[in-house]
Amino acid sequence: MEVLSTIDQVRARTARARAAGGMVGLVPTMGALHAGHVSLIGAAVADGCDALVTVFVNPLQFAAGEDLDAYPRPIEADLAAAQAAGATWVFVPGDGEMYPQEPLTTVSVAGLGDAMEGASRPTHFAGVATVVTKLFAITGACRAYFGEKDFQQLAIVTRVAADLSLPVDVVGCPIVREPDGLALSSRNVYLTPDERTAAPVLHRALVEAADLIAAGERSVQAVRAHIEARITAEPLAHFDYAEVVDPTTMQPAELALPGVRILAAAQFGIPRLLDNVPTDPAGTSPAIALSTSDLEVSTGDRAPRRGGRDT
Ligand code: PAF
Repeated sequence: MEVLSTIDQVRARTARARAAGGMVGLVPTMGALHAGHVSLIGAAVADGCDALVTVFVNPLQFAAGEDLDAYPRPIEADLAAAQAAGATWVFVPGDGEMYPQEPLTTVSVAGLGDAMEGASRPTHFAGVATVVTKLFAITGACRAYFGEKDFQQLAIVTRVAADLSLPVDVVGCPIVREPDGLALSSRNVYLTPDERTAAPVLHRALVEAADLIAAGERSVQAVRAHIEARITAEPLAHFDYAEVVDPTTMQPAELALPGVRILAAAQFGIPRLLDNVPTDPAGTSPAIALSTSDLEVSTGDRAPRRGGRDT
């Protein structure tokens, strides 16, 4: 595995790999790699790609007062995790390499980023879309792997790639969970032991909501109210939102028909945690995985999103 720090190095390596008939699998991250990231690298390798993992804490996607400075940066552990997962290259640029001057050009996707995460963090998705577009431009033609945990981000990145005709296949990969259902996130390290015990309520509430839909509930308001009530009943959780959306357009669903995606967010002390679950178009329920193994990949197949390339 080679560690790269300049855009020129990345361009030279990825161009050479493509010229030799290879396929590049881009895995954009902000580091603090956990088993969710490792599963993305594993998916790229399993698809036969040379995996390019990027580790860059992108200042553009943090607003003033957010955790940019405190964001975990365990680079040695990240390099070891990327190597163990089979990465070919890890790109670790400095801020000056990515943004040698203040970017006057930014990428924003009308509508898709306004609600949910966008309502709490109005500048966030333009920062994500801008850095991901830069990473696509730096890497060139590739498959690019994103986790479904950040489902809204996944929808936005997919739309950017399609709208700008970027030569990128966006691949959405299933959420990796702790055995008690908590979705893996780099921000879980901020949870106190009591908050960690409380946090799986987010996933439980979502699974119950999917069960309601599987049982025939069609009122979006009833589904959202159930999630809010379950989360609000947990004293260490501060409910933020619950939404029922069309998984492709991210538009609020009028009816809670099987096939919709259910998303929610809540604050547990310092971190705001996000989660979401699919609902089966056939109407079955995504039961919580209870297992003796350390980690579970939740239900839902890895779905390539074509058209360039899925928070
Ligand atoms: O999901 C993340 O870690 C970030 O938003 C991403 C996609 C790496 C862009 O900085």
